[in-house]
Amino acid sequence: MRTRLQSDHALPGEALAEALACGRRAHAANGFGDFQGDPYPSRKESTPMNVATLEHPETAAPPASHRYAKCIAASKRVRWDIDRDVIRGRQFDFGRKFLPDGLSLVKALSFLRPDEARFFSQVQGRTYANMFGLVERYIGAKTLEISRGYALGDQVALEALVRFTDEELKHQELFRRLEQMAGAGMPAGYRFVAQPNEVAGAVLGKSTWAVLGLTLDIELFTLAHYRSSIETDAELSDLWKDVFLFHWKEESQHAILDELEWRREDARLGSEERDGAVTDLIDLVAAVDGILQAQAAADTGYFTLRAGRSFSPAEQDAIHDVFLKAYRWQYIASGVEEPRFTDVLKALVSPAQMERIGAALAPILAHVEA
Ligand SMILES: [Fe+2]
Ligand SMILES: [Fe+2]
Repeated sequence: MRTRLQSDHALPGEALAEALACGRRAHAANGFGDFQGDPYPSRKESTPMNVATLEHPETAAPPASHRYAKCIAASKRVRWDIDRDVIRGRQFDFGRKFLPDGLSLVKALSFLRPDEARFFSQVQGRTYANMFGLVERYIGAKTLEISRGYALGDQVALEALVRFTDEELKHQELFRRLEQMAGAGMPAGYRFVAQPNEVAGAVLGKSTWAVLGLTLDIELFTLAHYRSSIETDAELSDLWKDVFLFHWKEESQHAILDELEWRREDARLGSEERDGAVTDLIDLVAAVDGILQAQAAADTGYFTLRAGRSFSPAEQDAIHDVFLKAYRWQYIASGVEEPRFTDVLKALVSPAQMERIGAALAPILAHVEA
């Protein structure tokens, strides 16, 4: 069973290492057409194309300061308010789905009745919002930390990163509001297992290179989920859909800044430090998977208790398997399949390091593929 966000992005688990090694051209994800692709010559694979890019100013990438300035301009242009623009006095429509089928993978549970399938998507949608609230705690803290490096330097970069931090604080507030609203309309007993400060403390203990790599991955899959699954599903709760429309608008700039900062951090590292950072990134993916396993177990318990009927042991196992598979798809597989992510990663690490990353991801991707 396999459900993909974009069929043209299909990337079987067993081919991951090859795909990571080859990379692919980035796709426009956010309207920043001039920022797409890989504007940087790879440090490790200098090609005639790279040389040509460096020698011809008209084809060269815009300087970093220009890219920060464009992020500020976009941030000002799309800026929104939680109540005035997003919630607008509305409540969730519990007669409709939250998470689209392409993300929830609910179609794999053919024994669920329509109302049960809807509840399944609402449980996952509630967890989806909480997951963003969770990761934004560490993302905001790391962005604030990085911005300090510009405090007495590039004021344009500083403003771009301060805006980024401010937006993530607002997003966390939005996701706390959603959790309250979901809790008021759904049966009691739901539990979001991970604690934001605990997780942020563990993540921030890893190297900045690894943290920025994970962050770019997260912000790119945020964009991909909206454009490929959420935007196109007419059966979702209007409010839930709008939340992720507005979130997507501000995340577009974040992904650009993540890439700029990841490359900047990479340029500072020696080869031994980078190798350690790759190990950190692998550890972070394992930690994310641990969170997903715990939440899948909690959500299976909640769903089977509150769905309104009892399920056989085989059905309960299937429900648990789809929860975990969907979470691995949403938070790990869909991100590492993004060409824009693999292109940057490919430019920063060696083939051997890429192979290590591919080997660590293989069991998770194999489960998603199964
Ligand atoms: Fe966000
Ligand atoms: Fe973000």
